[in-house]
Amino acid sequence: MIRVDRLVKKYENFTALNSISFSIGRGSFFGLLGPNGAGKTTFVRILSSLTMPTSGEISIEGRKINRNNSETKRRIGIVSQHITLERELSVYKNLELQARLFGIDKKERHEKIMGELEFADLVDKKEEQIKNLSGGMKRKLMIVKAMIHKPSVLVMDEPTVGLDVASRRKIWDYLKKLHMAGTTIILTTHYIEEAEHLCDRVALLNRGNVVALDTVPALIQKVGLFALDRFDEEEDKTITYFFNDRDLAVEEAKKHTGDVKIRNTNLEDAFVQLTSERVVG
Ligand SMILES: Nc1ncnc2c1ncn2[C@@H]1O[C@H](COP(=O)(O)OP(=O)(O)OP(=O)(O)O)[C@@H](O)[C@H]1O
Ligand SMILES: [Mg+2]
Repeated sequence: MIRVDRLVKKYENFTALNSISFSIGRGSFFGLLGPNGAGKTTFVRILSSLTMPTSGEISIEGRKINRNNSETKRRIGIVSQHITLERELSVYKNLELQARLFGIDKKERHEKIMGELEFADLVDKKEEQIKNLSGGMKRKLMIVKAMIHKPSVLVMDEPTVGLDVASRRKIWDYLKKLHMAGTTIILTTHYIEEAEHLCDRVALLNRGNVVALDTVPALIQKVGLFALDRFDEEEDKTITYFFNDRDLAVEEAKKHTGDVKIRNTNLEDAFVQLTSERVVG
């Protein structure tokens, strides 16, 4: 169990995290969803003990995270927002460096590296230099690298940023496998469909505040299961109404002419509704 308790991070007089609290159960797949500047990386940096909170704390299995707690550090694998791989070295050598960093015995190293490469379906790339890999491959390898010491918690800061759909789906499949093998996964993203596809619980972070935290279906239900989009010519924009009862949506649609469409509400709607100041009924 990971517990985030009244966590605050201030940069001089700017508050990046404004007293956020929540728990993440063992084995869960948790998403921290938020736009640019929401505080996602700040949260990951505290979790990785790269920076200290101004106040509050994060604990893993009852142990507080801090710079000196090497035992907690070993429990976590971190994938940073930027690629940190040695470009001139091979895939294998990069993983070997990481294994050494975590003090894995020479005897065990080869077996561990090959095991992780096999799990990620990257064995045929083992001698390839990083600079020759595609963006998707590099991102995937960042995750393999974070998993080399077999942490029970994997934390990723926007692991699929900038990837095409096919590469992103390959990473999603790899993450699903890691999750099924029992790894607790925490992922930040501003891709709503990523959270919708993978996460069992999602926290919506906006300007340092958690504005909602629930399962994806529950967040959608809060807004209304059905959305009606109507282009309003006077206002020159699309207005969306939400309903939990489809019949009511159909009734509303009948009142309007022109471009009216009823669809299922998605996490993107929930995000827009719950991060706006408006109170949703
Ligand atoms: N070292 C710093 N000094 C001052 N302000 C900072 C520092 N690091 C981050 N910030 C500010 O804190 C806020 C949150 O930043 P953070 O990087 O955590 O956001 P994010 O959600 O990761 O955004 P992105 O989606 O762009 O990666 C931003 O407004 C940022 O400008
Ligand atoms: Mg970030």
